[in-house]
Amino acid sequence: MSQPSNPLTSSRHLMSINPRPQHAFVRGEGAWLWDQAGRRHLDWLQGWAVNALGHCPAVITQALAEQSTRLLTPSPAFHNLPALDLAQRLCEASGMDQVFFGSTGAEANETAIKLARKWGRQARATSASAPGRARRAGAHEVITFDNAFHGRNFATMAASGKPGWEALFPPNMPGFPKAKLNDMASVLAVLSDQTVAVMLEPIQGEAGVRPASASFLRALRALCDEQGLLLIFDEVQTGCGRLGTLFGHEHWGITPDIMTLGKGLGGGVPISAVLAKAHCSVFEHGDHGGTYAGNPLMCAVALAVFEELSQPSLLANVRACGQALRQGLEALSTTWGLGEVRGEGLLLALELGSDQAASVVAAAQEVGLLVNAARPHCLRFMPRLNSNLQEIELGLSLLAQALEQVYEQRPQALSV
Ligand SMILES: Cc1ncc(COP(=O)(O)O)c(C=O)c1O
Repeated sequence: MSQPSNPLTSSRHLMSINPRPQHAFVRGEGAWLWDQAGRRHLDWLQGWAVNALGHCPAVITQALAEQSTRLLTPSPAFHNLPALDLAQRLCEASGMDQVFFGSTGAEANETAIKLARKWGRQARATSASAPGRARRAGAHEVITFDNAFHGRNFATMAASGKPGWEALFPPNMPGFPKAKLNDMASVLAVLSDQTVAVMLEPIQGEAGVRPASASFLRALRALCDEQGLLLIFDEVQTGCGRLGTLFGHEHWGITPDIMTLGKGLGGGVPISAVLAKAHCSVFEHGDHGGTYAGNPLMCAVALAVFEELSQPSLLANVRACGQALRQGLEALSTTWGLGEVRGEGLLLALELGSDQAASVVAAAQEVGLLVNAARPHCLRFMPRLNSNLQEIELGLSLLAQALEQVYEQRPQALSV
């Protein structure tokens, strides 16, 4: 079949799920992406915080090449060595006891929800003094939060608190009463004898990088301990080094009962994980599974990525680059009279104060910088974790050009 002269004419055969710029990317290396016209873009999206080590790092291409000649997928019904190794590494590093591997963040979160429901149902039969005592008699509700984002399958859409989503594909899955982040009274207001767990992102990413406060997370942990509930952290975005700690919750010193990982875990290939403490790791044979669950190709890559992410020097680099990026964003905010800078490590947002984010994203693309408008009034930055300070400076100067274009005026300091 002959190739169309402009490959983008084929885009009519793709279901249109979002607007896309009129070029295709053909190559990536480190911090950079090249489009088919040969133009280079500094990538501060990195696949939505997926490419933890940037585009096509050697550790990934080597792991892929080696594993792909050895064993792709024997079947999830059999053990394979990379999955065994990865499970052990993740449990040792996190203090969790067991892992289930999936492919996407949504799958990991759906698995966590299933685990919580099963735990709630099982506890019916256990003694009143066991974790998940009387209150858990068949309890199944998972308290989640306004503006949360947990994925796009039915369970995780219902668990998410994205405005407008409840109207998209009714009927919605019940069992996810919503509270407000950093508001314990709102949690207590929806707590009932049907509650089995509280689930949240320690920093709400899609909501515009909105962190839970340390006191709120401490209060949630205390509530869960006191009431015999599970605390589930969705660390799909905050885990795997993104906040400058191996797992995001280390930043607050609060340990969940169940944690989900995705995105950076595979550094660009699809793998996710649910990690659980022994007391709530209650799946029995036949409860759960997946054709690609723990396939050796993805697990081999994740092992190689994890080796890099767990180096103290890499995590120190995230903190140093994050600090430089934060300072630069704060300076731009002052220059242009914008809003606050939020987040931790290399997950940061700049509040614009008005709905100009789409215009800034477009202007940034023009000057060769890829950033994300997490909300109409807020930009999100997710550079690779092995960024360097020169890249951060370059990105900030490109962003300054984009802001200048959008706000169509020179900053006071430069116009005199
Ligand atoms: C916190 C969080 N949870 C879950 C997901 C869903 O992950 P996936 O798109 O891999 O299903 C995302 C994706 O952005 C996320 O940010």
